[in-house]
Amino acid sequence: MSTGLLDGKIAVITGAASGMGRSTARTFVENGARVVLADIQEEAGTALAAELGDAARFTTTDVTSEPDLEALIEYAVGEFGRIDVFFSNAGAAGDLSPVTDLTEEGLNRTLALNLNAHVAAHKLATRQFQKQGTAGSIITTASVAIFQSGWNGPAYSMAKAAVMALVRQSALENKGTGTRSNAIVPGAVLTPMIPTMFGISDADAERFAERVEEEVAGQTLVGRLGRPEDIANAALFLASDLSSWISGTGIVVDGGAMAFTKDRSIELITGVAGEFQ
Ligand SMILES: NC(=O)c1ccc[n+]([C@@H]2O[C@H](COP(=O)([O-])OP(=O)(O)OC[C@H]3O[C@@H](n4cnc5c(N)ncnc54)[C@H](O)[C@@H]3O)[C@@H](O)[C@H]2O)c1
Repeated sequence: MSTGLLDGKIAVITGAASGMGRSTARTFVENGARVVLADIQEEAGTALAAELGDAARFTTTDVTSEPDLEALIEYAVGEFGRIDVFFSNAGAAGDLSPVTDLTEEGLNRTLALNLNAHVAAHKLATRQFQKQGTAGSIITTASVAIFQSGWNGPAYSMAKAAVMALVRQSALENKGTGTRSNAIVPGAVLTPMIPTMFGISDADAERFAERVEEEVAGQTLVGRLGRPEDIANAALFLASDLSSWISGTGIVVDGGAMAFTKDRSIELITGVAGEFQ
C-alpha cells in the first residue's frame, strides 16, 4: 500500500541488487520515489530495475571506487534531475579473522567496502545537495556489531562502529542546511549476506534458511527473524519528511536483540551453519 511518503523524491540506493537494498528499492518505488539502483551485480540489478518499471534505473557501480560513485550521482542527476536521498547500504562481512590473525590486506579490504565507501558516499552526496541548494537525507547501513563483539568479524565491527562516527560528523557538517544523516542499525536479517558469510553453498541455501528459522525465530523477543522489509520500512521513515527532526543518530532494527542479554541469534545461526560445513 502506497503512503505517498516519498512522492516526488529521487533516491540512490547502493547494494540494491540483493537483500535490504533490494527490498528498500521496492518500498521506495511503492511509496512514490524514483530510484537509481547501484550494485556490482549487474544481472540482478538490471532485472530489478526492469521489474520496477519507469521509476527505476540501474547502473553498475563498485562503491569502493570513488570515480564509480561520482559517475553514479552524475547518472542519477542526468536521469532524474537531482537527488534527495542517498542510501549508502552496500556491504559484506569481509575478512572474518580474529584480530590476532587479521592481515593488513584483510583489514584494508574490509574497511574499503564497509567504511571508506561510506565516507566517499557521504562526501559526494553532501556536495551534490550543496550544488543543488536542496536538503537531502543520507542513510547508512550500520549493524548491531557497533555495540557488541561476536555478531560478525572484528574488521567488519570496527568499520561499522566508525560508520556511526561518520554519520554524526556528516550531520554536524550539514548543520543548518536541512540535510540529515542517519544510520539504520540492523540485527541479524537472513539476507544472502549470512549464508555467504558462513560459506553455505547455493544448493544448501534454502534448507539453511529453514533451519535458521526453526532454531532462531522463537528465541527472539518479537518471535520471528528479521526480514529485509523491516529495514526497508526504517529506510522509508528516514528518507521521508516524517523524520525531519532526526539527524546524527541510528535507528536500531533488531527484533529486540540489544534489549535482551541472552539473545543467542548469532550463536544459533553459527550452529546451524556447522551442520552444512
Ligand atoms: N544481513 C544482516 O544480518 C545484516 C546485519 C547488519 C547489517 N547488515 C548490513 O546491511 C547491508 C546490506 O546487506 P544485506 O544483508 O542486504 O546483504 P546482501 O548480500 O543481500 O546485499 C549486499 C549487496 O551489496 C552489494 N555489494 C557488495 N559489495 C559491493 C561493492 N563493492 N559495490 C557495490 N555493491 C556491492 C552486493 O552485490 C549485494 O547486492 C550491508 O551494509 C550489511 O553490512 C546486514
